[in-house]
Amino acid sequence: MAKKSKKIAEDPKTTGHSWDGIEEFDNPMPRWWLWTFYATIIWGVGYTIAYPAWPMISGATSGLLGWSTRANVAADIQRAEDANKENWDQLASVDLAEIEKNPELNAYASKAGASVFMTFCAQCHGSGAAGAKGYPNLLDNDWLWGGRIEDIHATVAHGIRNEEDPDARYSEMPAFGDILSKEEIDQVVNYVMSLSKTPRDASMVAAGETVFMDNCATCHGDDATGDRSMGAPNLRDAIWLYGGDYDTLKTTVTYSRFGVMPAWSSRLSDAQIRAVAAYVHQLGGGE
Ligand code: HEC
Ligand code: HEC
Repeated sequence: MAKKSKKIAEDPKTTGHSWDGIEEFDNPMPRWWLWTFYATIIWGVGYTIAYPAWPMISGATSGLLGWSTRANVAADIQRAEDANKENWDQLASVDLAEIEKNPELNAYASKAGASVFMTFCAQCHGSGAAGAKGYPNLLDNDWLWGGRIEDIHATVAHGIRNEEDPDARYSEMPAFGDILSKEEIDQVVNYVMSLSKTPRDASMVAAGETVFMDNCATCHGDDATGDRSMGAPNLRDAIWLYGGDYDTLKTTVTYSRFGVMPAWSSRLSDAQIRAVAAYVHQLGGGE
């Protein structure tokens, strides 16, 4: 200890700063530190010349190497597309019915279709395609508009009750609140309930059947099993798009519903629509 303080006393090179008697030595920077420091400056200047760096009014200097994350992503996407081009071309050109007969193409279509579904369909139909109130379950074999791959393809390409596509599937159930009396609605609702379970008021069922035959059978069929050319649901199968309890049925009949699905032909390529149609067709309920 004593030896050290003596050495300091002999080497009084200080900056001249002093705080309460504590002085600051004026030792030179270590060489290795200085050289590293200069190297980082050179590296930094070089980097800003080679790579995009300095912010300008619109955008930034682009750098001599022409490197850009966007170009990298575009190149990655292009590479993936080139690799899959043959599959997409084949998907776009074969007969719809042929897709499922060709195992390799089919495997590709279901995978690609699943990813289209996750991106564009899951928000309405659910990620597992089980649907929600007003959005049909696509897993079962209960189809509003048809479950052959051709039907599904047409539904997806043109959509349902939208205004953008003149070929959209279209039908409109009238709001019977303006057509029938409250009592008749009560009766027909009880009749509809009686088709799949017990009605709320069994004494109304017979009268309800008459109301049904006069007002509903044209679309839902005399036997109430529905009509796909109209997208009119089967009312016998206890599978409900909107709900089968008394209150929901009453709302449906009084105000009607108007389920809308967008047309996808303007947003997706035909090959993508074919892929997602094949995917939906294979979910379990395809015909
Ligand atoms: C904005 C919500 C919405 C989106 C997104 C949507 N759908 Fe739909 N989809 C509906 C509605 C609502 C119906 C039922 C319309 C009706 O009542 O007839 C429907 C019906 C269908 C049907 C007919 C089912 C049947 O029983 O006949 C198919 C098939 C279908 N959708 C597939 C798809 C696919 C595939 C996508 C993605 C490309 C998709 N939907 C995206 C709302 C949507
Ligand atoms: C012009 C054809 C048409 C007529 C007439 C009609 N419906 Fe409908 N009905 C439809 C269509 C189409 C849907 C599907 C609506 C949608 O999804 O937007 C539907 C849906 C329903 C539903 C909902 C089913 C569910 O799964 O949630 C019920 C219930 C129903 N109709 C009952 C009736 C009753 C009762 C009458 C007679 C008083 C009637 N409909 C008359 C076409 C019709």
